[in-house]
Amino acid sequence: MLTRILNIAAEAGEIIRNGFRKDIDIEYKTNESNLVTDIDKKAESKIIDFVKTEFPTHNIISEESGTLNNSSEYTWIIDPLDGTTNFAHGLPIFSVSIGVQKNGITQWGVVYDIMRNVFYSAELGSGSFEDDKKLQVSNNDNLAHSVLATGFPYNVKDNPLQAVKHFSDFLVKTRTIRRLGSAALDLCYIASGVFDGMWESKLGVWDICAGQLILEEAGGLATDYIGKKIDYDNVQILASNGKIHSKMMEILQ
Ligand code: IPD
Ligand code: CA
Ligand code: CA
Repeated sequence: MLTRILNIAAEAGEIIRNGFRKDIDIEYKTNESNLVTDIDKKAESKIIDFVKTEFPTHNIISEESGTLNNSSEYTWIIDPLDGTTNFAHGLPIFSVSIGVQKNGITQWGVVYDIMRNVFYSAELGSGSFEDDKKLQVSNNDNLAHSVLATGFPYNVKDNPLQAVKHFSDFLVKTRTIRRLGSAALDLCYIASGVFDGMWESKLGVWDICAGQLILEEAGGLATDYIGKKIDYDNVQILASNGKIHSKMMEILQ
């Protein structure tokens, strides 16, 4: 199964790479900061066609096409292009994210770091990998030595102060903060020990499904801001190496 997900992620990634810095059609979704391109849609169609052909009984939740409910125990959760703003503006940081759940539990996750041509993957209970290298979160338990990632939700203009407050609170207590623009990659970079943690609200399940499994299989932890299980219908995520989790939670209170 993992090999098949890796293969279809590679095919979608190729569509995206071929469209990078070329003429693209951009549409606005909820507002002028929330973009979708023809390439997002082409990559998504490629993955959905694959699932419909190879696993016709499975359910699908995908960012641009919504939900296909076949009452299966298996659900494919697809973000064909995580980092659309980067893609549309020519910044080479974006990914394909595909998770597959069985009865609501993520069994397989793949995040393809397209421009680095690196595959992050995990199968429940079997560890996670960057290509064939096994991943382990960082060992750092000192917030002052931590590098964190975050993102700003597309509705940030409705309540900018909340995002700014969290950002400034972390800024003065950590080594620094990065805002890469792909939540799926943020999670993989915690899994690989590059980042120590991340926080973000108002994400979709497709942004985090694969990355959360990859993080957890590398020894990391993902909860909401108060340490509870993440609500996939209204995602608020605090993810870390586990060692700075409670310190991050205190700041988010
Ligand atoms: C976005 C990215 C970004 C995050 C946004 C997401 P998209 O996904 O993950 O890092 O800050 O909240 O919506 O729209 O590029 O697939
Ligand atoms: Ca996304
Ligand atoms: Ca997307």
